[in-house]
Amino acid sequence: MSTTQVAIPEAFQITELIDQSTYLVNGEMKKWKGETTPVYSSIHTVNGQGEYAPTLLGSIPRMQEKEAAEALEAATKAYGKGKGVWPTMKVSERVVAMETFVEIMKTKRDEVVKYLMWEIGKSLPDSQKEFDRTVEYIYDTIEDYKQMDRDSAKFQKHDGVYAHIRRGPLGVVLCLGPYNYPLNETFALLIPAIIMGNTCIFKPAKHGVLLISPLLEAFEKAFPKGVVNIVYGRGREVAAPIMQSGKVDVLALIGNSKSAIALQDQHPNKNRLRLVLGLEAKNPAIVLPDADLDLAVNECIAGTLSFNGQRCTALKIVYVHEKVKDEFLKRYTAKVDSLPFGNPWDDGVKLTPLPEPGKPAYIQELIDDALAKGAKVINKRGGETTENFIFPAVLYPVNKEMRVYDEEQFGPVVPIMSFNDIEEPLNDIADSNYGQQVSLFGKDVYTLAPLIDTLVNLVCRVNLNSSCQRGPDVYPFTGRKDSAVSTLSVHDALRSFSIRTFVASKDNDYNNKILNELLDTKAANFVSTDYIL
Ligand code: G3H
Repeated sequence: MSTTQVAIPEAFQITELIDQSTYLVNGEMKKWKGETTPVYSSIHTVNGQGEYAPTLLGSIPRMQEKEAAEALEAATKAYGKGKGVWPTMKVSERVVAMETFVEIMKTKRDEVVKYLMWEIGKSLPDSQKEFDRTVEYIYDTIEDYKQMDRDSAKFQKHDGVYAHIRRGPLGVVLCLGPYNYPLNETFALLIPAIIMGNTCIFKPAKHGVLLISPLLEAFEKAFPKGVVNIVYGRGREVAAPIMQSGKVDVLALIGNSKSAIALQDQHPNKNRLRLVLGLEAKNPAIVLPDADLDLAVNECIAGTLSFNGQRCTALKIVYVHEKVKDEFLKRYTAKVDSLPFGNPWDDGVKLTPLPEPGKPAYIQELIDDALAKGAKVINKRGGETTENFIFPAVLYPVNKEMRVYDEEQFGPVVPIMSFNDIEEPLNDIADSNYGQQVSLFGKDVYTLAPLIDTLVNLVCRVNLNSSCQRGPDVYPFTGRKDSAVSTLSVHDALRSFSIRTFVASKDNDYNNKILNELLDTKAANFVSTDYIL
């Protein structure tokens, strides 16, 4: 643990605070004069008073209903009842705006990476990866959007009716991202929403908010006014009144289902509200008797404990066949205990401080509950606690009465169950509230085949001999039941934030002459057979 700033590599020291005193609304960086909320890192350092305490990083505006209404008004105006500059703009022009954005964004890598480490405790390589993956996602989105446009630059004819079909925007999007990927997951919603011609109000995550500050200028410079509006504050005070207005067309949220439901409930016209949601999951690993145990252990380590288990795709429960249970537990617990804990910039660090101040206590509650109901912490270091961390506890044997069986722990505790009959985990997965992904470890195809055939109907991705993950981002990322609404991937996200809309005209001389003229004059941005290369 660091005790002073001096002990921290120079490039990552906090030498000045980011006091975010402006907010982006209607294309303007407005000065905030109201109440502010301090932003602390859970990484402790010695402060000005000589106390070893959470590190102050800066502050953000604590906006209220009035400013929320202002942002909503700006987004609504920019959409302009479908007549706005942005929703009616040529695809090629929207592409140029997005390219401008990403070019400016790329120059902010070091700053964003630094704050990813301080604000959410993500390791340096993972923070760099989050930034780079997001940039790549934006370029891939641009390419996919161009392809989508090329594919629709044509007319169809059925039953004597010509149709020119494209995808059009939906309107105003309220976009809320999670703290574990405050850049990547948020932008994986925001970028496709923007490029499809929607206008947005975006509220950064609770942890991982200052890292957006270096990017405000890019939003301001790249997009017409009102297309992206950024608000700060508490969900209840800012997002709820925006929803109550009934003017939000899409709620795009990655987070937990309680907040998603609470926000939907605020909307007076629910059928008008489209949902793009990435929610909780309890992805299981199933280790079959013929699994390559070294591989299974390594993948389960990455799956359960990358970023301390704070990933929606993390393996949150492990089922091991009785025949290999002892060996698996021995190797897995030894590996867990050898994982190095440290600050995000430490070389080779695997476990890092937890950004949520209450998280160690919550994980301890789950452990205590499991112990009281018959489980044991089977690794030596499990449960060791410091001011901002609790060492991963491997719990075995876990049963269905325990909270850790049902609750999405989103942190460093690993529940393990053993099974004799594969029907046991299959039934549990079918009965679970969640249905995102599963990891299946084994090799006999006659055992795997029926399992795969069942599991694909219970979750949305079966990972064969590997941990669960979202990427590559071109693949569909979604879930069943309470795990997701709608599908995200580079391509699917463009679909999620748009709707098919078209111009139809009966095949007759009168209409055909008009269509030809529309095409020749290029007077309409929608009716066009031009290709963007
Ligand atoms: O938190 C959920 C993320 O979508 C997980 O993404 O699998 O790339 O870590 P990842």
